[in-house]
Amino acid sequence: MGFSHYELPKMLFIFFVFMNSCMFSYGGNFIQEFDFNWGGNKVKSFNGGQILSLSMDKLSGSGFQSKKNCLFGRTDMQIKLVTGNSAGTVTSYYLSSKGPTHDEIDFEFLGNVSGEPYILHTNVFSQGKGDKEQQFYLWFDPTKNFHTYSIIWKPQHIIFLVDNTPIRVFKNVESLGVPFPKNQPMKIYSSLWNADDWATRGGLVKTDWSKAPFTAYYRNFYAQKFNKSQFLDAKWQNQELDANGRRRLRWVQRNYMIYNYCTDYKRFPQGFPLECRNF
Ligand SMILES: *[C@@H]1O[C@H](CO)[C@@H](O)[C@H](O)[C@H]1NC(C)=O
Ligand SMILES: *[C@@H]1O[C@H](CO)[C@@H](O)[C@H](O)[C@H]1NC(C)=O
Repeated sequence: MGFSHYELPKMLFIFFVFMNSCMFSYGGNFIQEFDFNWGGNKVKSFNGGQILSLSMDKLSGSGFQSKKNCLFGRTDMQIKLVTGNSAGTVTSYYLSSKGPTHDEIDFEFLGNVSGEPYILHTNVFSQGKGDKEQQFYLWFDPTKNFHTYSIIWKPQHIIFLVDNTPIRVFKNVESLGVPFPKNQPMKIYSSLWNADDWATRGGLVKTDWSKAPFTAYYRNFYAQKFNKSQFLDAKWQNQELDANGRRRLRWVQRNYMIYNYCTDYKRFPQGFPLECRNF
């Protein structure tokens, strides 16, 4: 018995997917699942690892990264962002592999002066190349309460969600020659750092260090590796968003999107990147 040309790569692919080490649980414990790799005691955990905080002062920011990595899956994190005058701070939450041709899926929250809106910046890197930014305002104040920020990463597409509302879909259009992250397992990272040289309207507003330390809080972390039956189920593979999901996505993109590289004529005078055709 042999495998057809078609079946063999598919089987190897499935084998590889289930070889990867990612396996997390609901309401994950920060102490067990993450390395507190930057900022020393500026990373703090509470309630036996149920809650975590990152802080930043003039000396440094801080960050953590997952011990395990995942090839495809869903990750959710509840975050309460830096309150008050957070201008110049960036809280990032992202998936990334390592190396010069790394893949990366980014959420970055750009702080602002008191009372002014945060910008949620998103990007996707495939084989070391990013330049696929979309930015949004949020429809709530992200510093008042915890909100859930999620990434769904499948071979067919990447979906960014805020409180379960899809805000961005990045499709796999390898058929157009656009690389898509699908071979390198990624870890989950988060950090709080100073970016007052670019994040505040090109560096116009500086971090007010008299307000330091700046602190962001995390809880109810969850990551799920997609299971075998999900990869085999053809219907599931093709499914992106249902009608309600598509309606929510349009609502966010119409009302809250403030930047889309796919409509930035000045930046791409020679023509838009190929994946923008499909946008
Ligand atoms: C900060 O607020 C100003 C004024 O509302 C807005 O133009 C800007 O996009 C906001 N975000 C950042 C990161 O500057
Ligand atoms: C795979 O995941 C789906 C959706 O979460 C679930 O309904 C199904 O029972 C899971 N199958 C296995 C074999 O774990």
